[in-house]
Amino acid sequence: MKQITKAVIPAAGLGTRFLPAIKACPKEMLPIVDKPTIQYIIEDSGIKDILIISGHNKRSIEDHFDRNPELELNLEEHGKADLLEQVKAIADINIHYIRQKEPKGLGHAILCAKSFVGDEPFAVLLGDDVVYNDENPCLKQLIDVYNTYGGSVLGCQTVPQEKVSSYGIVASEATAAERIFKVNDMVEKPAVDEAPSRLAVLGRYVITPEIFSILERTEPGRGGEIQLTDALKVLAKQQNMYAYDFIGRRYDVGDKQGYLEATVEYALRREDLKDNFLEYLKKVVK
Ligand code: G1P
Repeated sequence: MKQITKAVIPAAGLGTRFLPAIKACPKEMLPIVDKPTIQYIIEDSGIKDILIISGHNKRSIEDHFDRNPELELNLEEHGKADLLEQVKAIADINIHYIRQKEPKGLGHAILCAKSFVGDEPFAVLLGDDVVYNDENPCLKQLIDVYNTYGGSVLGCQTVPQEKVSSYGIVASEATAAERIFKVNDMVEKPAVDEAPSRLAVLGRYVITPEIFSILERTEPGRGGEIQLTDALKVLAKQQNMYAYDFIGRRYDVGDKQGYLEATVEYALRREDLKDNFLEYLKKVVK
């Protein structure tokens, strides 16, 4: 079975929910405490060969994952060895970029990765979904499922009924394995009363390369965009596809509430911040 060595991160979207903050700064660069969200996603993935599908106004992502000699020299001169190491390490990952020239949807963005991916299964990581599990990162869990069962694997969790219309929702059946379901069908952002379940795809995928020929034939769907969900639905009829109910705290950082929750909880996990920050929170909520 082919190993998963490549990941694709679609980052061409506008993220209008964060205007005006993202007018000149990509939403992927919004920090949670002191690190851009996209850096959490890349570091947690454990993958070293990454393609970012970029778009207008996204150049600061490239700068962030590049070396910065001026900053490095400054940190060295001021004896800030820890920071220097951190800043250099960011540029160690092998990141490629391609531009999605038109906003034709997530499926179209993934199709832009065709020549980078080639004939291998690959991971897709969506920038709005940050998942915290410091022992067993979300993508590693999906890759373990892939290594055992093959096929494509969708990272899912159950969402409240009123939220089903925000996600790709799967229709699936149980397998002998806990947390693993066989996908029979999918629907992108169904109406609340039409959803086949409450099991939602939450921004982590392992996908086999057969998706590309399907995407090439996929017509625009919901919102007039080429939807990844529509192509996955076709793939699920051709090959095994699994929905995996991953373990971890997931934040929708594309949403203000989710972003604030991530900021507070990540700060409270930090040894250097948590005591003072908790004191402060207690005072504020009194
Ligand atoms: C995308 C996908 C959707 C998925 C969601 C997860 O939607 O199209 O299937 O459930 O990400 O965050 P978006 O939120 O980009 O509109």
